[in-house]
Amino acid sequence: MQNQLMNILQEAKEQLLKASSITETEEIRVKLLGKKGRLTEILRSMGSLKPEERKDFGKAANSVRTEIEGLLENKFKSLKELQKTERFITEKIDVTEPGTKFSLGVKHPITITIDEISRVFMSMGFSIAEGPEVETVFNNFDALNAGPNHPSRDFTDTFYISEGILLRTQTSPVQARTLVAKDPPIKIISPGRCFRCDTADATHSPMFHQVEGLNVDEGITMADLKGTLDSFAKQLFGSKVKTKFRPHFFPFTEPSAEMDVSCFKCGGKGCRVCKGSGWIEILGCGMVHPNVLKVGNIDTEKYTGFAFGMGVERIAMLKYEVDDIRLFYENDMRFIAQFK
Ligand code: DAH
Repeated sequence: MQNQLMNILQEAKEQLLKASSITETEEIRVKLLGKKGRLTEILRSMGSLKPEERKDFGKAANSVRTEIEGLLENKFKSLKELQKTERFITEKIDVTEPGTKFSLGVKHPITITIDEISRVFMSMGFSIAEGPEVETVFNNFDALNAGPNHPSRDFTDTFYISEGILLRTQTSPVQARTLVAKDPPIKIISPGRCFRCDTADATHSPMFHQVEGLNVDEGITMADLKGTLDSFAKQLFGSKVKTKFRPHFFPFTEPSAEMDVSCFKCGGKGCRVCKGSGWIEILGCGMVHPNVLKVGNIDTEKYTGFAFGMGVERIAMLKYEVDDIRLFYENDMRFIAQFK
């Protein structure tokens, strides 16, 4: 039995020398000292020995046990040290290494343009109103005094969703909504998306953006319209630009006009941007038609107003000299990132 003890000790030493992980070492511990371990079993079988043999053997077995325990303890300790050193090596941070670059997004040129237009009007006391892109035919046409035979209602121009529902063809229905929801004084602009059945080419897109404006109060005149829009043009395109108003027709305004600005690129001499004319058409506007005010139950004897609407893509194309509207929708970062 003494021999057996010596063998166990010898084997333990050899195995522990080879063991390279904590799990392996733990397995060795269980095999030797666990409940069914070899040493435990030998100690258990001591009962069969004679009393005088038992004493000596007990001593020897205990000293082997203590020695093995000591060996195990040392092994565990050195393996843990090793583990720590390995972690220090693998998790080492090189503080001189350059950081990971992550690129920041940029605002889309259409968003930049809407923001600029909005900032100018907000500085003049306009607030922002919003309306849905899916609109009623009533708000998009009837409420805006576009009679039942108005050409813009045509199926070939408008995306109809169902009998009375469409994708708005302009931001003007926000006028109707605001007039119904609010009492004068009303002073809002409304930027947003619009949709028309247009085939995409360099100047057309079935989806585009407009900014609508509406100002209704007591005593509003054409002079307010001109003053406001002239100031807007100067703030957006530069203090030197001049404006002129040409008579036009819109169903929802009477009288109606289009506003041109003197070319901010060439100063009016004629260039590529203004196509040689010295003037650039910027927006439609007019005095709100009484029929439109009536939709909001507004007293047309007491209140008058002006309205305007402009195409955002057109303004962005002019300002940034972009010659194809489709570039705005391709999401090519090389294009978009130029407008910071
Ligand atoms: N809704 C018009 C369009 O899409 C633009 C417009 C013109 C809006 C005159 C207005 C306005 O509010 O007064 O062409």
